[in-house]
Amino acid sequence: MRQAVVAGNWKMHGTRQLVAEFVQKFIDRQQLGAEPSQVQTVILPPVGFLAELSDGLRGTHLATGAQDLHTHSKGAFTGETAGSMIRDLGGSWVLTGHSERRQYQKETDRQIANKFVAALDADLCPILCVGENLEDREAGRAEQVVTAQLNTALQTIGIKRLAAGCVAYEPVWAIGTGQTATPDQAQQMHHSIRAALGVLDESVAQAMSILYGGSVNEKNVEAFFKRRDIDGVLIGGASLNVEQFVMIVDVVAAAVASR
Ligand code: PGA
Repeated sequence: MRQAVVAGNWKMHGTRQLVAEFVQKFIDRQQLGAEPSQVQTVILPPVGFLAELSDGLRGTHLATGAQDLHTHSKGAFTGETAGSMIRDLGGSWVLTGHSERRQYQKETDRQIANKFVAALDADLCPILCVGENLEDREAGRAEQVVTAQLNTALQTIGIKRLAAGCVAYEPVWAIGTGQTATPDQAQQMHHSIRAALGVLDESVAQAMSILYGGSVNEKNVEAFFKRRDIDGVLIGGASLNVEQFVMIVDVVAAAVASR
């Protein structure tokens, strides 16, 4: 069975107080035996909070990580963070190519692919984010756009190395808008991502965890997990409230158990 993943992307939100709340909650759950081992839960805070969160969660089943990394392993790149530093801070996961970075930092598919490779070199598990904008969806070219993002990245990454990470489908129009893709729309896109991977390597395609992201919360998450090609979720807004986030993890654990 493919690895079920619940990843919380705090974006540029959070405080040390929030870190403390998460640590307390998940330590308590671990001690009570309430933390489901069949779900890989990941929290991606702003990098400034990463060490504190990682240290606090040590000994739990949770993983932590960052929202971005630089392509180089070190150097004169003011303000940037290398993959090895994310590791040093206790992180083991990292996002690459989130749509907000594509939009505001003008990251290209090639750059994103280089970041994915840099993450692997630093022994991190990268999540490759892809997704179409509203205009693409309305023009009926969503699958074409997403497949093109994937294929361009694959030219640099290669299918074998992609297998060491995950893919996240996040339609831009669904991020932070409260408007999710329907489970059917998401399933259709996940299926076509898996099919595109399958053209290159069927066993990688079958083993790859593909996450959905975009306005996922504790109420709608179950419906996504009923679809066969949806293996995980990437949560923004709803990952900032520990009670809400825990509910999502528990709904996912129950859905995975009944698969
Ligand atoms: P959202 O964000 O859950 O707030 O829509 C998802 C994301 O950007 O990863």
